Parts: sequence; structure tokens; C-alpha cells
Amino acid sequence: MRTRIIGTGSCLPETVVTNDDLAKIMETSDEWISSRTGIRERRLVKDETTASMSVVAAKRAMEDAGVKAEEIDLIIVGTITSDYVIPSTACEVQAAIGADRAVAFDINAACSGFMFALHIADAYLKTGTYRTALILGAETLSKIMDWNDRSTCVLFGDGAGAAVVRADETGLLAYDQGSDGAKGEVLACQNRKNNNPLVKNATELQYTHMDGQEVYKFAVTTVPASIKKVVEEAGLTIEDIDYFALHQANIRIIQSVAKRLKVSEDKFPTSLEHCGNISAASVPILLDEINRKGLLKPGMKIVLSGFGAGLTWGSAVVEW
Ligand code: ACO
Repeated sequence: MRTRIIGTGSCLPETVVTNDDLAKIMETSDEWISSRTGIRERRLVKDETTASMSVVAAKRAMEDAGVKAEEIDLIIVGTITSDYVIPSTACEVQAAIGADRAVAFDINAACSGFMFALHIADAYLKTGTYRTALILGAETLSKIMDWNDRSTCVLFGDGAGAAVVRADETGLLAYDQGSDGAKGEVLACQNRKNNNPLVKNATELQYTHMDGQEVYKFAVTTVPASIKKVVEEAGLTIEDIDYFALHQANIRIIQSVAKRLKVSEDKFPTSLEHCGNISAASVPILLDEINRKGLLKPGMKIVLSGFGAGLTWGSAVVEW
């Protein structure tokens, strides 16, 4: 029994913020951002929340899959920017869609969140514990950015992506994942500080900071190795893969991975031009975009790969 993706959905906030828009509020330019990252615009929330975008993405995925709320056994949301510390975004989604039977929880694996959620769902489905799961990656990254730090805030966007997965004859063929907590500081955002009566810290807001070059080095070495490993485990060769749907951090990372795998960049669809980096939501949004364009045909072999803070990474080969 394998875990098959049977429907996808996504949701982006309404408001488009171009690189030129950013250049009006900070010292940057479309040339600097697009030449280094490939990003031209991103969507940022005004009224939307992590949960509201998740609910829209979830409903679209369920419609695509032809699955009703009462059929869903499990909801997992990969997010680092839930609206509440408690309850989880997954519980908010459960209530909004009326999936009363489902077990719902969030996971934090940063930009690998959707991939880790897929693997957790696979473990439940393979053992027969559950049959149908809704997995999401959803972020409102704009709330954890330091909008005075032009080296990080220009890279990120907001949005949500979802997939319905079900136990089936084919689907997830192989999986690789890993973590390297020793390098946690290269991309980090501290939670709220403790302000209990014993420590009395001043309440200070915490934002994301990143060592961009270290992240780049990690991505261009770990991701090709993880993809090679998972393709081999699936009993395939790199040439057998129809598409590589990677986390959308930076076009240079994607180009470098393509070069190291000796694969044409045409096999690497992108959404970062109009989305920016949406952490856990990147992979499911991209998957939904290529699915809705009709690019995915039954039997195709697709590599999905997420990588980011933790550090964490996860790659999978799926048969469509
Ligand atoms: N606009 C204009 N100038 C800028 C900006 C900006 N938005 N940001 C930084 N600069 C300036 C810096 O101040 C610096 O100026 P200086 O030379 O006068 O000091 C100069 O540009 C170069 O800065 P660097 O940070 O060294 O820029 P670099 O060439 O490393 O590019 C980048 C930064 C694009 C982030 C690069 O390191 C990279 O691609 N890293 C990959 C990491 C990544 O994509 N992270 C995304 C999140 S992680 C993830 O999702 C896995």
C-alpha cells in the first residue's frame, strides 16, 4: 500500500507586492532582488491569516480530489507561523471544513514542513491506521520578518498549499529526510521571551535572521544528494524523473541543483517569481500550480524536495 496524492489546492493573499513596491519603502531594487533570487513579486496578507488561507487551500484540494470532509481521518499542517500558539492551525482547519472525525495537529519543520507532513501521513496510511489525510504547508511569514532588514524581508511571501493523500496501489515510491540541529543558527527566529516573575525580560519582538551564504551552501550540497538517494531507492534513474518540484527559496539554488544532477532546468517548474519563498507552503503551492496547468499525467514520476531551517530536508519520489 502506498500514499497517493489525489488532489491539490492553494491560496495566495490578494495583495501583490512587487520588487518596485519594496524599493519605495527600503533601499533595494528590482535588479538586486531579481538577479540574485529570481523573485519579482510576492503576496502579503492584509486580512488573510494562516488559517484562513489554509481553509481555502484545503477546500480546493478536497474538491480536486472529490473527497468530502467526513472522509478525512487526519489533518497535518506544516507551519512556523500559526495564528495561535494554541489551538493548532490544523484544529482551526478541522473546525472550518467540518472534518469532525479527523485527528489534527501542526508540525514545525520550517521549509521542509510539507515534506515532513507527507512522510508522517505515509506512516499512518501504510500501517492502515488511517485511509485519507489532508496535509498542508501554510505561512504568514511577513509577520516574522524584520522589515528594516532588506537582506531577508525581500525574500519571503505568504500563502498556503494543500494536498489530499489516500492509501492506494501507487504513489509515494521512496522518501529521504534529515535534520542537522547543530546548524540551527544559520536561519533562526526566536519565540517570544519568557517574562515570568523570576526573569522579567522586557517584552521584545523577535524576527528572522539568516546567514544567506551558509543556507545557500547547505542547499546546493544536501538537496542533490538527497534527491539522488531517493531516486535510487525508488529503483529509478534521474532521467526517469519528469519534474523536480523543489522548495522555492532562490532560482540560483534551483539552477545549481539542476546542474549538479545534470538535468535540464526545464524539468524544474518554479513559482518563486510571483510567490517568493513561502517556507512550508512552497512545495504544495508549486505542485498545485503544475497540477492545475495539466502538466501532471498518471504514471509520471515527480521528485518533491523541501529544505530549510532546522536545518531540515525531505525529498520524495511520487508516481502521479
Ligand atoms: N537590496 C539591495 N542590497 C542588498 C539587499 C537588498 N534587498 N540585501 C542585501 N544587500 C546588500 C548587502 O548590504 C551587501 O552590501 P555590501 O556589500 O555593501 O555590504 C550586498 O548587498 C551583498 O549582501 P550579501 O548578503 O552578501 O548578498 P549575497 O550575494 O549573499 O546574496 C542572498 C544574498 C540572495 C540571500 C544569497 O545569500 C542567497 O541566495 N542565499 C540563499 C539563501 C536563501 O535563499 N534563503 C532563503 C531562505 S532559506 C530557505 O528557504 C531554505
